[in-house]
Amino acid sequence: MRKKIPVILDVDTGIDDGVAIILAAKCPKIDIKLVVTCHGNTTIKNITKNTLFILEKLKRFDIPVAEGMASPLLIKRPHVSAHGADGLGGYQYENPGFDLLKESALEATHKILSESQEKITYICLAPSTNIANLLKEHPEDADKIQEIVIMVGSNEPVKDGETPYKEFNASVDPEALSLVLDSKIKKTIVSMEMGHTAYLNWKDVYKTEKTNAFGEMLENIFRGYKDYHVRNGIATHDGCTVAYVIDPTMFETREGHMQVRFFEKLGSGVGVIDYDKTPNVTITTKINIKKFKKLYFKTLKKCKI
Ligand code: RIB
Ligand code: CA
Repeated sequence: MRKKIPVILDVDTGIDDGVAIILAAKCPKIDIKLVVTCHGNTTIKNITKNTLFILEKLKRFDIPVAEGMASPLLIKRPHVSAHGADGLGGYQYENPGFDLLKESALEATHKILSESQEKITYICLAPSTNIANLLKEHPEDADKIQEIVIMVGSNEPVKDGETPYKEFNASVDPEALSLVLDSKIKKTIVSMEMGHTAYLNWKDVYKTEKTNAFGEMLENIFRGYKDYHVRNGIATHDGCTVAYVIDPTMFETREGHMQVRFFEKLGSGVGVIDYDKTPNVTITTKINIKKFKKLYFKTLKKCKI
């Protein structure tokens, strides 16, 4: 058996975060060392509860969960969420019986990294607040991070005068993203175009429901997902990001330079890619939709309620 990839998952569960957790937890190639929660799609309390709920449904009580930052590094900006007020589209569930670590995400991440004999891949599916905070408080931990794979921004360069579409994770904490982009750690960006192209269409959603009881639950949760970029299906941003770690050959990528540009009229900042500057990231430009959906349905079949 090939060596497993040790990862830390940083989530703001969130409907597509839920799909990402399922893909990672069910993949024999991935060894989830820790899941940390971050503000974003809803309040940190809801996000933590949603994350514990998904892991409990997966019966992955072996995976430690630590609660992270409840608000952005510097500025709290109002934002809407596509995931419903509670983050899982209004899906009602019993309080998970699964306990949280006592340590904060910062303490738990620092502990795992400093004690690990091998470098760990950090998968960020939320605003970059936790990872930025870690690099600020424990810069020495950068040496223990193999790569940051982060769902953020767009792979489209901004034309002069054009204000780029706000991608949620970047726009909620652009200062944190800027700090992460300045780090020397290998960074791979899974851009928003991936989730907008490999979205689950209504046929896929129906097939999800008919696959098994787990799929029935997911279909219920999907009903509350309102990503206004994808009106005829379910955007799969975070699922695509975990899929990149599982099988990078599913993607085409380019080297580019991403930096945060602050747009006052947007009241926020966005990750802006420039292919003419010295690269600081690898960014996805295309996803093999068929391969992604094959992975998604193969994984779903393994989920037993
Ligand atoms: O823009 C998409 C990102 O914002 C995804 O991570 C989604 O979960 C939301 O957090
Ligand atoms: Ca997310």
